[in-house]
Amino acid sequence: MGETTTTEEPTGLRAGLTNYGDNDFALFLRKAFIKGAGYSDDALDRKIIGVIDTGSGYNPCHANMPQLIEAVKRGVMLQGALPVTFPTISLHESFAYPTSMFLRNLMSMDTEEMIRAAPMDAVVLIGGCDKTVPAQLMGAISANVPAIQLVVGPMVTGSHRGVRVGACTDCRGYWAKYRAGEIDIEEIAQVGNELVPSAGTCGVMGTASTMAIISEALGIAPLGSACPPANGGQRLRVAELTGKLATGCLRPPSEVLTRKSFENAITILQAIGGSTNAVVHLLAIAGRVEGLDLTLDDFDRIGRRVPLLVDLKPSGNNYMEDFYKAGGVPTLLRELGDLLHLDAMTITGKTLGAELEAYPSSFPQDIVRPRSNPLAPSASLVVLRGNLAPLGAVLKQSAMSPALKKHRGRAVVFRDADDLMARIDDPDLDVAADSVLVLQNIGPVGHPGMPEAGYIPIPKKLARTGVKDMVRISDGRMSGTASGAVVLHVAPEAAVGGPLAVVADGDWIELDVEARSITLDLPEDELHARLDKWKVEGRGKKRPARGYARLYHDKVVQADQGADFDFLRADAA
Ligand code: FES
Ligand code: MG
Repeated sequence: MGETTTTEEPTGLRAGLTNYGDNDFALFLRKAFIKGAGYSDDALDRKIIGVIDTGSGYNPCHANMPQLIEAVKRGVMLQGALPVTFPTISLHESFAYPTSMFLRNLMSMDTEEMIRAAPMDAVVLIGGCDKTVPAQLMGAISANVPAIQLVVGPMVTGSHRGVRVGACTDCRGYWAKYRAGEIDIEEIAQVGNELVPSAGTCGVMGTASTMAIISEALGIAPLGSACPPANGGQRLRVAELTGKLATGCLRPPSEVLTRKSFENAITILQAIGGSTNAVVHLLAIAGRVEGLDLTLDDFDRIGRRVPLLVDLKPSGNNYMEDFYKAGGVPTLLRELGDLLHLDAMTITGKTLGAELEAYPSSFPQDIVRPRSNPLAPSASLVVLRGNLAPLGAVLKQSAMSPALKKHRGRAVVFRDADDLMARIDDPDLDVAADSVLVLQNIGPVGHPGMPEAGYIPIPKKLARTGVKDMVRISDGRMSGTASGAVVLHVAPEAAVGGPLAVVADGDWIELDVEARSITLDLPEDELHARLDKWKVEGRGKKRPARGYARLYHDKVVQADQGADFDFLRADAA
């Protein structure tokens, strides 16, 4: 590697100069200014690797960012190139009002434009918390500069009264116990001290873990980089390696990420029992690649032949640190073998198969099951259709009560998230254990950014009698760390006049997972009459007066296309 001042393509500080007639003057100015930061000509006359800093006081998941950046820079400099860090938006799940998903597209735009704005030969994307990796991949694909993904790594587990705990499946489990009166306020406070014991992303198979693993499967993150814990030495070695690899990273993501890469990503998503959010994110990421037409049906089709192999919460029992000790993603990729396209390209310029061959051997372990003994034979995520979701809906069947896989029940309808909050625990709520809970107006348009409110809590009075799972339907999302018979991402959403908008209390709804159907038992003319009335009454979402909320309302596409903005997709032209 080393100095690269003699290549034909403009590189280093010369890249992307604005040509207003005097490029040499523009370069002179660029150099003069950055010298104010103390750089020598020797430093500046090299390949430049941009390093995106998404650290923030509001993002505890990214609290190890300073150490990661230092290690990435070391890797870049070991190869004789110059690392230059720059910030973009950072998003944390608990500190991103109204929802982190609302801001994902904004972060993708920031990422895209800041990569484009400055000279860099390649860029290291450092992200981790749920929406950050999808946003960075979306932005980097559109910016079309060679890019490599580094994740901050998962947090380790804590301990509560001798039981291992971690964010955030256990957050929900313990909170449900508290709601049901099984544990008291003092104990829930103690649990709160142990759920997030370190920096890093949620330690179960939530969205962050899922997207980290998917980045490896896509070939845009180094092999073996998803699982090392955020606070360990291996995480920093991965960062150093990422910096090294970035200097040899010659092709933009749109050339690395093909249909084969995305099919590999979906295969992995199914095999890990990954987050339902990853479906929306992968559709959005693929939507940025020119000529790549990924649809919901690809997820269902691939899912039917891929077994659930990784035993992590919420579908299984373990944590990311266990997956790491079991060899991580390479172990899983080897087990999946012929279900993958091993000839898919990666950022290293080698195929996934060649990378796997060069990776240290796997060994006996009990987190990644052999295909002969899977946790479930197939389809951890399924795509449902029917008159209630003409454009599709998603369900994580690996994390639901098997008894509800074929279920018919009467709808109990909540108008929106506020209505849900006001009435779900009302002792007078007319609800039974076999009811179907329906939540409207939390789709992309309905409630800015499709909040993770699709995980409708079991009404308190039923929870107290031991009811653990019910069929729940909405146009929103659910945290990847949650579980249950929860039908999500119903498209089109209620706020744009999807059939979900006109479900009424007492309507019969039938879920049939085997048949992949979700049906509102209503004569077709009655359904149409209700939809016509809905239009006449103008019950859609009011247009926000100004700002990003207005842009979001006007431009967001439905969940079956990844909830990106229409003008950001590759097919926008
Ligand atoms: Fe950041 Fe869970 S809150 S990954
Ligand atoms: Mg989450």
